[in-house]
Amino acid sequence: MQQYDFKYFFLKYKKRYLLGVVWLALVDILQLIIPQILRLFTDDLQEGLLDGAGLVRYAFFIILVAGGTAFFRFLWRLYINGTARKLERDLRNDLYSHLQRLSPSYFQHQKTGDLMAHATNDINAIRRATGPGVVMLADAILLTIATIAILIFTIDIRLTLMALIPLPFISLVSVHFGKIIHKKFKSVQEAFSNLSDKAQENFSGIRVVKAFAREKKEVERFEVSNKNNFLRNVDLIKTWGLFRPLVQFFSGLSFLVVIWYGGRLVILRTISLGDFVAFISYLGMLTWPMMALGFVINIIQRGRASLDRLNAIFAEEPDIYDFPGTDFDISELRGEITFDDLTFSYSKDDETVLQDINLEIAAGDTVAFLGRTGSGKSTIARLLLRMYNTDPGEIYLDGHDIREVPLRVIREEMAYVPQDNFLFSTTIAENIAFHDPETPREKIEQAAREACVYKNIKDFTHGFDTILGERGVTLSGGQQQRVALARALIKRPKILMLDDSLSAVDTKTEEEILQNLESIMAKRTTILIAHRISTIKNADRIFVLDRGQIIERGDHESLLEKEGLYYDIYQKQLLEEKLEES
Ligand SMILES: Nc1ncnc2c1ncn2[C@@H]1O[C@H](COP(=O)(O)OP(=O)(O)OP(=O)(O)O)[C@@H](O)[C@H]1O
Ligand SMILES: [Mg+2]
Repeated sequence: MQQYDFKYFFLKYKKRYLLGVVWLALVDILQLIIPQILRLFTDDLQEGLLDGAGLVRYAFFIILVAGGTAFFRFLWRLYINGTARKLERDLRNDLYSHLQRLSPSYFQHQKTGDLMAHATNDINAIRRATGPGVVMLADAILLTIATIAILIFTIDIRLTLMALIPLPFISLVSVHFGKIIHKKFKSVQEAFSNLSDKAQENFSGIRVVKAFAREKKEVERFEVSNKNNFLRNVDLIKTWGLFRPLVQFFSGLSFLVVIWYGGRLVILRTISLGDFVAFISYLGMLTWPMMALGFVINIIQRGRASLDRLNAIFAEEPDIYDFPGTDFDISELRGEITFDDLTFSYSKDDETVLQDINLEIAAGDTVAFLGRTGSGKSTIARLLLRMYNTDPGEIYLDGHDIREVPLRVIREEMAYVPQDNFLFSTTIAENIAFHDPETPREKIEQAAREACVYKNIKDFTHGFDTILGERGVTLSGGQQQRVALARALIKRPKILMLDDSLSAVDTKTEEEILQNLESIMAKRTTILIAHRISTIKNADRIFVLDRGQIIERGDHESLLEKEGLYYDIYQKQLLEEKLEES
């Protein structure tokens, strides 16, 4: 189990961080030199020691220091902020591959939005702690200590102590306001994402909006969201507006002390005018580290909290995995399936979805499951794919308990056309060749022919290179189903499962597809799940499910003879067909 802490991050790139802090210290040292130049300059000026060459010399020094500052500032940004970006990249990769390992049930209990928030906000917070946070902390420590030491040793200890009194308040103000500003900033972000979600949903559902003539209402709803976004932004501006002047107020107090007390010292000739000028400019340099100290406390706190949240995700383990020591040869899978007293519920608190299921499917058979909605048909498919765990001894593949068959074998040897088939926003060819992007084009086209969708695809201007999804073509329901079918067929699976995958296809095309399947799947196992009897009537065996139990089984003819649920469904569908025809 991978768990992270800040120490790990810093150690991982310790050389870069160390160098970064060195560059940062160099910048600070150069910055601290400037007031010294000013001081010498003022004293020389006052005592009339300066001529033209002297001015040029001072100007040259200042340019040199400024150039050095710029150079080293560039370096520390690269070394510290750049390293934080590296950490961000590593962490995001780790998170993504960890999430890919987790079982479907994990995603079922997680909102996609929450996961996205972890991947963006939490990782950002960690980046801020490991980048700007480090800079601020190092700056706050280095600059504060160095400045105060210089002031005490080179100018005047009493003046220094008095001038410092108001400064800690700057840190307090920035801790306090930092928290408030962060909260308000988040609320601005929320308001904005709410706004864009609303707009996005509206655009995706624009057909529904138009069909129900809801445009005006939608505009009103948008205006409310937009106003909310505006108000929260104004609120944030107000807080910022208060924060800056407050910081300036406290640093102004410091200057007040210096002008009043320091001015007297100059008049009394205890310190020189140059000392006074240098002091003022050092004091100005202390405002930032004081603010930084306040910010850094918040940044580290937030980084910690985010790290805890991410660690909680990293602590999740997939509940479906290969048992150690399972040794299984792919070529062994013949496609024989046995259910032995299978009883299943999605979780302990949920009700039983499947009960006492007993059946055997010989390799090469075509069987079908029929039943009302919610009777457990899709659940059977999901269990065969090992998306959920079953108890030992409930499902066997080729005589092996399914729990002992490696996931790789199951997922490679089976193909599944899910009921809510999902196509990716890429080309049709890539969607069909999803299991292996290297698949040659002829094979892709062949699969499309088998799924009876070849002609449809060829009719698009870009044919198989047509992009699907938001920025591309929207396929009709039946076309989607057939593309998803092609994606499954191209794998030439030992076991093929179609979950209501022909429901949006007309009966004539359906018949053609089923005929194709018959020859492709002659020696392979096919499991058909359907509502429509036309889809399944030729299956070797049909299981009728009702509320999680198999209540009838047999082939089409024998089931009709029983005059049970199957017969009822059949009669109803005949009637529907007649009504449609008339
Ligand atoms: N992930 C899940 N977690 C908890 N309960 C679930 C889950 N998926 C399905 N169910 C429940 O299990 C029961 C069977 O669902 P299933 O999807 O297997 O039905 P189905 O026969 O495929 O229905 P349909 O014909 O509508 O597709 C339903 O009561 C459903 O509410
Ligand atoms: Mg279903």
